[in-house]
Amino acid sequence: MAKVKIATTADVIANKVLKTSANGQSILVAKVGDKHCAIANKCPHFGLPMAKGKFENGVITCPFHGSKFEICTGKNVEWVESFVGIPLPGIAKKMIAMGKAPTDVANFVVTQEGNDLFIDT
Ligand code: FES
Repeated sequence: MAKVKIATTADVIANKVLKTSANGQSILVAKVGDKHCAIANKCPHFGLPMAKGKFENGVITCPFHGSKFEICTGKNVEWVESFVGIPLPGIAKKMIAMGKAPTDVANFVVTQEGNDLFIDT
């Protein structure tokens, strides 16, 4: 594992996700309360980027099919709820899920040294 700088504390604005990268992998960083948190910018449903998703109360919503993830844990809290923001009925959710079971997104422990933020990759 290698420690990689992903941002400075000044880069991370309250209630927003910052898209950054580490070793070629796209990463989302946010500050939730006093804690900096990071997840992979890759939805485990179809591997699409989530950076443009709604971010609220520490949870990011994938802009494609509405799956929701806690940015501090990577935990999946809703799975395939919508299609480009339009809520889906149950049968359509199953079709768009395409048999994929709810899955957490990769998350990273963020460490801070001075004003610099790091993850291990
Ligand atoms: S790609 Fe994210 S919910 Fe489908």
